[in-house]
Amino acid sequence: MKLLVVCLGNICRSPMAEGALRARLDAAPLAGRVEVDSAGTGGWHAGEAPDRRAIACARSHGVDIGGQRARQLRPADFDDYDWLLCADADNLRDVRKLAPAARRDRAVLLLDWAGIEPGGEVPDPYTGGPEDFRRVWQLVDSAAQAVVARLSIT
Ligand code: 4NP
Repeated sequence: MKLLVVCLGNICRSPMAEGALRARLDAAPLAGRVEVDSAGTGGWHAGEAPDRRAIACARSHGVDIGGQRARQLRPADFDDYDWLLCADADNLRDVRKLAPAARRDRAVLLLDWAGIEPGGEVPDPYTGGPEDFRRVWQLVDSAAQAVVARLSIT
């Protein structure tokens, strides 16, 4: 199974979610059966490492996301990935607009799909402080744990 986490810039939320998912998957018997990547609906930060606050927050939880590089969502992603897991409702709307009709329902909200909260969103921490990044980590890591649990029984 291939999962793509999508946010706006691909430097805060989706890299943190990618890191949390990788870490939780690596610790599970699923290791190797699930591939994870992330992308942004916007391309302004393409080629950049994650925001240093996101790197620091992930590191404080024992996860290294410093090697990730941002990229923009591309049309081939709709063929290449089984699920496009969006951070918030704006991201979901933007992704669905770009999706071929037959793949549109493969774009979902991460927290919803993980079973954390119907309609739940991961708030953009970009203009916030460290506590906003900690909140993002808490949400995406809860989602990562739930995804691993879900995939382990299906
Ligand atoms: P992200 O956060 O979508 O979680 O990566 C953002 C990063 C950059 C911008 C907005 C949100 N930006 O406007 O540059």
